[in-house]
Amino acid sequence: MPKMITSAPASVPKFKTEVSIKDLAQIPVIKETNESDEQIMERLRQRFSILDDMTRAVKAGDIRAMIVSGPPGVGKSYNVEEVLSKHDVFANVANDQKLKKYEVVKGAMSPLGLYMKLHEYKDKKSIVVFDDCDSVLLDDLSLNILKAALDTGKKRMIHWNTDSRALREEQIDKSFEFRGGAIFITNIKFDHVRSKKLRDHLEALESRCHYLDLTIDTEREKMLRIKQMITDGMLNRYAFGKEEVDELYEFVYNNASRMRELSLRMMLKVADLKRSFGAKYQDYARATCMKG
Ligand SMILES: Nc1ncnc2c1ncn2[C@@H]1O[C@H](COP(=O)(O)OP(=O)(O)OP(=O)(O)O)[C@@H](O)[C@H]1O
Ligand SMILES: [Mg+2]
Repeated sequence: MPKMITSAPASVPKFKTEVSIKDLAQIPVIKETNESDEQIMERLRQRFSILDDMTRAVKAGDIRAMIVSGPPGVGKSYNVEEVLSKHDVFANVANDQKLKKYEVVKGAMSPLGLYMKLHEYKDKKSIVVFDDCDSVLLDDLSLNILKAALDTGKKRMIHWNTDSRALREEQIDKSFEFRGGAIFITNIKFDHVRSKKLRDHLEALESRCHYLDLTIDTEREKMLRIKQMITDGMLNRYAFGKEEVDELYEFVYNNASRMRELSLRMMLKVADLKRSFGAKYQDYARATCMKG
C-alpha cells in the first residue's frame, strides 16, 4: 500500500528569484477616456495590426528590434507566432537548412545562454523572440549584450570576455557580428515601472527598439478585446450557436471583476467548460476561474 503523506516534506527548496518583485512593481494605469466602445475597439484593432506589420518588418530585416507590451492572454504571442510561422513554411519549401529563421525563447535565460542564442541567430533576417523572458531584460550583463546586439551603428559586434567551456565546446567565437532581429514580448509596461533604476535600465533597451504598447489596461478594454475576437470568430471551433456564444460572453462580462484574469485565454477556458459540462459550466467557472 502506498505510504500516505501526512505532512509537507521537511526541506522545501527555497524559491529563488533573480528579480525582486518590488523592482517590477508598476505604477497603476489610470485612464480617463471619453472614447466609445467602437473607438476603443478600433484603437485595439489598429494596435494589433501594427503588431503584425512590425513583426513582418522584423522578419524582412527592415527593422532590427521591437518590444511589445501588453497584459497576459490578449494574443501577443499568438499574433507574433502567426506572422513568423508563415515565414517558416516558406523556409521549408526552400528546403534550406541554413534558413533556420527564428526561435521563440521562453522563461529564464543566463547571459551566456543569451550570447549563444544570439550567435545561433546572428544572420540577417534571423530572429530571436524573447517571449515572457524577463530575465534578459533585468540582468545587467544580459542587457549589455542586448544593447550591443541591437545598437544603431553599422556593425553590431558582441563580445564575451571571460573564458567559457561552453563556448569552446560549441566552437563559438568570443566575439561576432549580430545582424539578426529581436522581438521582446512582455507584460512589463516600461514607462510604468516604479523602480527608477529598472526604468533607466529598460530605457537603454527601449531606445534601441521600436516599442509597441497594446494599450489594453482597463477591464473595459480587456472585455472589448474579448468581444472583438469573438466577433472575429475566436469561438467558431466550438461550433456553439449564436445564443450560446452571447451567453458565454455575458457570463464573463457580468463577472468581469471577479475573474482571476480577464483575457482571451480566460474566455477560452470558460468555453472549454461549456463544451465539457454543458449547462453546469457556470458552477465550474465560478470554482476555477473566479476569485474568492
Ligand atoms: N486571433 C486569435 N484567434 C484565436 N485564438 C486566439 C487569437 N489570439 C489569441 N488567441 C488565443 O488566446 C490565448 C491567449 O493568447 P496568447 O497566448 O497569444 O496571449 P499573450 O498575450 O501572449 O499572453 P501572455 O502574456 O500570458 O503570454 C491563446 O490560447 C491563443 O491561442
Ligand atoms: Mg505570450
